[in-house]
Amino acid sequence: MRSPRFLQLDRIDHTRLAAEASAGVAAQPASVSPKFFYDALGSRLFDAITELPAYYPTRTEAAILADHGPAIAAAVQARAGAGASLVDLGAGSCAKAARLFATLHPQRYVAVDISVDYLHHALACLQREHPAMEMIGVGLDFSARLALPAGLLDDPAVIFYPGSSIGNFSPGDALRLLREAHGLSGGGALLIGVDLLKPAERLVPAYDDELGVTAAFNLNLLNHLNRLIGSDFQVRDWRHVALFNAADSRIEMHLEARQAITVRWPGGERRFAAGERIHTENSCKWQRSDFEALLRDAGWRQVQAWTDANSDFAVLVAGAN
Ligand code: AVI
Repeated sequence: MRSPRFLQLDRIDHTRLAAEASAGVAAQPASVSPKFFYDALGSRLFDAITELPAYYPTRTEAAILADHGPAIAAAVQARAGAGASLVDLGAGSCAKAARLFATLHPQRYVAVDISVDYLHHALACLQREHPAMEMIGVGLDFSARLALPAGLLDDPAVIFYPGSSIGNFSPGDALRLLREAHGLSGGGALLIGVDLLKPAERLVPAYDDELGVTAAFNLNLLNHLNRLIGSDFQVRDWRHVALFNAADSRIEMHLEARQAITVRWPGGERRFAAGERIHTENSCKWQRSDFEALLRDAGWRQVQAWTDANSDFAVLVAGAN
């Protein structure tokens, strides 16, 4: 049996991360990257979000992949060839990609996440189930730049980017990432999930659920900041806000000060007026035709899409050539 290989490409630089986070808190208006949601508790809260009745994207995408599995696999193989390597962006538990193994039969599975530490357990388990498959775990912050060392992928690859995580990028940054994915595929294919535009009455409850799980996910960012930059945020001073920004076609999450607050950390402080907000996340909602045009701008061709009966979510396959 093979053993998985692990590579940490980006050193996780806590000093740089702390400087980025404190600059965001100090900025006017304050804004902190959504990557700071995902400490150990934040990752668990996100998993809980995906189980919520109101949060439709995860289960809708899973249903599309299950209902159209053979057709999607045929479209991928027609563009990348049979047995192409599968590169899983933001792999986490690797569960979504593992469900594709039975139809795509990749010879090599490359799981990419910000830290290889998240990948050790999942890849060790998967390797036992698929002893002949080459498995590589890569630690990389691909939100900054998506590139793998030369020689790691020698043939066309399938880039798998599920969950509408592309929606957490601005359209400009999404274009850059999709171009980099095109280069990385080496003439292969893209398999991507994207959440589609729908009325605010459906979107907002998915980000402001009745159980308060998304509120906890958003507020937990303050605890993470306290550990990272040594700030004195008190969670009870803040409230979760989710709103739909129609002009930019996106859900926005913010943390709003319940009263005037001064937050202090070593080397800095910031006064917030009552009602002032920290912008924590954008989740862009795409018209299917606009997303297909974005894929073409990024160099992707032969775009094919599958949606659910309500057109809530789309799974798209594209070829590099
Ligand atoms: C990870 N990402 C696709 C989620 C989204 O829907 O934008 C993150 C999330 N934020 C609040 N709920 C879920």
